[in-house]
Amino acid sequence: MQALKNDLLLRVLRQQNVERPPVWMMRQAGRYLPEYIKLREKYDFFTRVQTPELAAEITLQPIQRLGVDAAIIFSDILVIPQSMGMEVLMEEGKGPLLPNVIKTQNDINSLFTNAVEEKLSYVMKALSLTKQELNGEVPLIGFAGAPFTILCYMVEGKGSKTWEKAKQFCFMQPELAHQLLQKITDATIQYLKAQTKSGADVLQVFDSWSGCLSPEDFKLFAQPYLVQIADALKDDAPVILFPKGSWYALKELSESSAAGLGIDWCISPKDAREMTQNKITLQGNFDPAKLLLPVSEIKKEAKKMIDEFGGQKYIANLGHGITPNIPVDHAQAFVDAVKESEK
Ligand code: CP3
Repeated sequence: MQALKNDLLLRVLRQQNVERPPVWMMRQAGRYLPEYIKLREKYDFFTRVQTPELAAEITLQPIQRLGVDAAIIFSDILVIPQSMGMEVLMEEGKGPLLPNVIKTQNDINSLFTNAVEEKLSYVMKALSLTKQELNGEVPLIGFAGAPFTILCYMVEGKGSKTWEKAKQFCFMQPELAHQLLQKITDATIQYLKAQTKSGADVLQVFDSWSGCLSPEDFKLFAQPYLVQIADALKDDAPVILFPKGSWYALKELSESSAAGLGIDWCISPKDAREMTQNKITLQGNFDPAKLLLPVSEIKKEAKKMIDEFGGQKYIANLGHGITPNIPVDHAQAFVDAVKESEK
């Protein structure tokens, strides 16, 4: 395998010393980039995701434009429900729609878990093509949704602020919920293993909606499946778990096989370090809404954030995905601020 020219991300995930923290941004490939919007005008969402040449091109856009320290493959977390046999539509401007939601034992029985590698072979092709085009410049991040977040979409059928239907399903039919979570976990482990074989250097698991669960319910419906995934992948690639909003779980997750934990802005760097006893690499936690501040303010806030985390065992990132209304030069200011922190 080709040695990486910039291996900052891999070094911090191995807890090695670095000159400065690596920086990338969740959702860095996307609608705030004019070159992405141009492609969006020509090809619909799943065409972009399923055409390896397009996915690779989109993955490389923020590397070329912003000089971030890692690429994240352009895809979506909802390719897993698709590979398990569910229909998933992406309505432009509205978000995902799954017309046939999971309700019964029969619905769960009809989901496949063993066709992932074959059905998602286009992701594997996109990864190997991107890896080749990156030419060792920066590491490539593969990803998947966490089982609880995927259950949310499978049961609710679309995005939600409260995820009431998904939570009611978990609370009223816990046995079915655990069967479903386990099936998603099995498919996700195969999927992530295949991603590492196709060139992913690091894996991130997005539990975007776990924060809608109480600490007790997180321990029942989210944590065991995150831990299974981290354990299963520990010899394949470093895994970053991002249970958004679930700061209360940081201590226990810092004792898992994960190499890194993502956090959002609802916990301070100091508290996150204390909860994790400085045992694990942390990633985050700039509020993406602050990217609308003037450039000089963004730089000041970003530098403050880096100081608070301490320069080591740290990956500079946002606390959630970048939003479409962020001017590119503001995203650039965030990246530059991290790079300027080099001592
Ligand atoms: O980070 C990257 O740049 C890689 C690409 C990526 C996408 N989706 C592309 C995308 C990643 C990592 C995702 C993950 C994802 N998808 C998550 C977890 C991360 C998070 O933000 O919490 C979730 C919850 C989804 C589901 C999803 N996909 C939603 C809710 C939406 C619509 C709303 C939105 O955020 O845009 C999508 C569509 C989607 N996935 C877009 C992109 C660039 C926008 C659609 C478009 O450009 O036409």
